[in-house]
Amino acid sequence: MRTDVIYNGDCIQGLKRLPDNSIDLVVTSPPYNQNLSTQDTSKKPYKDNMDDKEYVNFIKELFREIFRVLKDDGSFFYNYKSDTKNNLINSAHFHLFNVIQDFKMAGEIIWNYAGNFDSNRTRFPIDYEMIFHLVKQNKFKFSDRNRKLTSVWNINHVMYGTHEKSTCENHPCPYPLKLIRKIVEHTTNENDIVLDPFMGSGTTAKACYELNRRFIGFELDTEYCEIALKRLKQKVIKGFFGTQANSTSSSFNKDLTENSEEFPQILHLAELR
Ligand SMILES: C[S@@+](CC[C@H](N)C(=O)[O-])C[C@H]1O[C@@H](n2cnc3c(N)ncnc32)[C@H](O)[C@@H]1O
Repeated sequence: MRTDVIYNGDCIQGLKRLPDNSIDLVVTSPPYNQNLSTQDTSKKPYKDNMDDKEYVNFIKELFREIFRVLKDDGSFFYNYKSDTKNNLINSAHFHLFNVIQDFKMAGEIIWNYAGNFDSNRTRFPIDYEMIFHLVKQNKFKFSDRNRKLTSVWNINHVMYGTHEKSTCENHPCPYPLKLIRKIVEHTTNENDIVLDPFMGSGTTAKACYELNRRFIGFELDTEYCEIALKRLKQKVIKGFFGTQANSTSSSFNKDLTENSEEFPQILHLAELR
């Protein structure tokens, strides 16, 4: 199985080609199907407004495939955000209950970030997301040598005007790198394999590169693959030469054709055999 690669394609199709019991950690944040008003989703290669049943079936299939590819002592960190729908709460916990199937719950993290604006003011605004720690059995890899972390993590979203935001360009919802680093550090060892089925701007890959873990990702949107590639290249070149890389989006296509054996790799899903 090839690692340190992001496949530009659908994650369900991609997951189906991965072997059983091959992945140490899955960490991901799916599209929330909340038809984000902040972006024009009509131009995106996926629907963010499926009907509820279609969405639940999609996530259930995702969970079944993740259960199959995850090693028995592996972990699956699933990030989901409660939202309002028809003036009621569409709770992350209710959502999990609908899709969890054979997974067991090892823990839950409250990712708390400062400030959220709810112009309606019909309830206290939600300013956290859930990260569910799911496992296949009650023995799973976990190390917490510093014993400092509890289950509420205060980490801001990637803010406009920061260097981190500028590297993610116009991806609407990149993970903060710090958040992923914590999860990867505590639940894997060096060279373990980490999968992110919704790789977006490549944050999980970047964390893995920094922590010397191997990664596999899927991302449907070619533009986001380009962003991920640029972020990784900056990291790699910075690592080798201690300087910031200059890369352009055309480097993406060049890489696909000319340098596909080099790290990092972005490949079409058809190349996953
Ligand atoms: C919530 S974002 C993930 C952001 C990511 N954690 C980051 O740090 O940038 C979800 C991503 O899933 C991608 N996506 C949606 N449906 C997909 C699918 N079926 N297969 C692969 N990627 C998909 C979207 O293009 C989007 O980039």
